[in-house]
Amino acid sequence: MSTLSEKEKEKYLNELFEFLKLPSISADSRYKDTMIKTAEWLSKELLKSGCDSSNVYETKGHPIVYGEKFVDESYPTILVYGHYDVQPPDPIELWTNPPFEPVIKNTEIHPEGAIFARGACDDKGQVFMHVKAFEQLIKKDKLNCNVKFMIEGEEEVGSDNLEKFLIENKAKLAADVILISDTGLSNLDKPTFTVGLRGLSYMEIKITGPNRDLHSGLYGGALANPINILSDMISSLIDSKGRITIPGFYDEVLEIDKSKRESIEQMSKFDNDHFKNSIGLKETKGEDGYSTLERLSIRPTLDVNGIWGGYTGEGSKTVIPSEASAKISMRLVPKQNWEKISELFTNHIKNITPNSVSIDVTTHHGGNPYITPEDFKGYESAINAYKDSFGIDPIPQKDGGSIPIVPMFESILGIKTVLMGFGLDSDAIHSPNENYGVKNFFIGIETIQNFYKHFGN
Ligand code: BES
Ligand code: MN
Ligand code: MN
Repeated sequence: MSTLSEKEKEKYLNELFEFLKLPSISADSRYKDTMIKTAEWLSKELLKSGCDSSNVYETKGHPIVYGEKFVDESYPTILVYGHYDVQPPDPIELWTNPPFEPVIKNTEIHPEGAIFARGACDDKGQVFMHVKAFEQLIKKDKLNCNVKFMIEGEEEVGSDNLEKFLIENKAKLAADVILISDTGLSNLDKPTFTVGLRGLSYMEIKITGPNRDLHSGLYGGALANPINILSDMISSLIDSKGRITIPGFYDEVLEIDKSKRESIEQMSKFDNDHFKNSIGLKETKGEDGYSTLERLSIRPTLDVNGIWGGYTGEGSKTVIPSEASAKISMRLVPKQNWEKISELFTNHIKNITPNSVSIDVTTHHGGNPYITPEDFKGYESAINAYKDSFGIDPIPQKDGGSIPIVPMFESILGIKTVLMGFGLDSDAIHSPNENYGVKNFFIGIETIQNFYKHFGN
């Protein structure tokens, strides 16, 4: 049930469309000015919605939007974090509407309509729910918390400059909880509540063989081909039981005892067939001894995200490439440390590189895993907020994705995070035709207000 009038709903959607029309692609330097424009637009919205002040803070990269409203010293303070940057929209030809021209379409999953645009769910749509929930609370004179908004423009590229901002603005950012809507839930009937995120370690390796590309007839057979070597090395990283073979990789992994695992499995009612069907697969695959849900949440992974080398153009070219490369990322779970894992990876790759080629390993970025502690008011308030909006207890569940800055909120600012995300797996975040249910958007606005109600009490 939404407490918004039809008029307000229409207005909020139109405003969100303005936000979505700005192509704030952080990875692409051609959009540097658009990033500034988007930050300025959002900063103005924060003022319009009721913030006392709001500013755009320059960084070495894309700016951070920070606004706040102070109500009363005796009230707790909520720090809302989110990101206004989006992933590049390509492959653009697979979109059914241009990615920065939002439209609402009815779908099987969203008979009441879904907003199709890059960033609709991740994370502009979800950031905007916070702006509007805050606006509503002011309008109804029910704002019982002090509020700070910190919306960054570099989440999708690793949040490189946010750490410095946290360190330099520790006092200004003081709060009792960090509230983030940048994750998802299972569905609107029996919602899950995200209580954990995986960490991430993002690596790149480059194999170099001969000092130039060679004719594969004149030279083939007498030297190591970098692509073959790279393939061998990559395939050795996971064994036949689905275990990652890097020595020490599992040393710090928090093993969860059998009875707890069983109760999580029972509670979650994860639908394996639906999972398979939704991504067009006949079979799932992963680490032996773990369910799909566990493979997606409490177990670490290693995946090749990209691989290149040699000739990939039209027709054929008989060549032995001089180089071959791959981007490889690992999802981490408590209590793995991303810097340590990156080091283990680097050492292992160097160890298994044959003398017939040379190797270069680089660490791109990473972040540690996170768990929301159960024994604080933020957790309880979130549970109660879901109960109010959905009429049922949410199922606590760890998410597979990562928001690398979250553990730093704890280590630098000493503040715990509550993750209240409203996206669905079918929202196609990072993919063509990203979309966000209109219903999800409005129930998010409701649930956030309910969170304030309980947290400020
Ligand atoms: N919002 C996502 C993370 C997410 C989505 C977590 C759904 C849980 C459920 C975030 O914007 C994201 O894409 N994170 C990246 C990491 C980043 C360093 C590029 C990721 O998880 O790959
Ligand atoms: Mn996101
Ligand atoms: Mn993302």
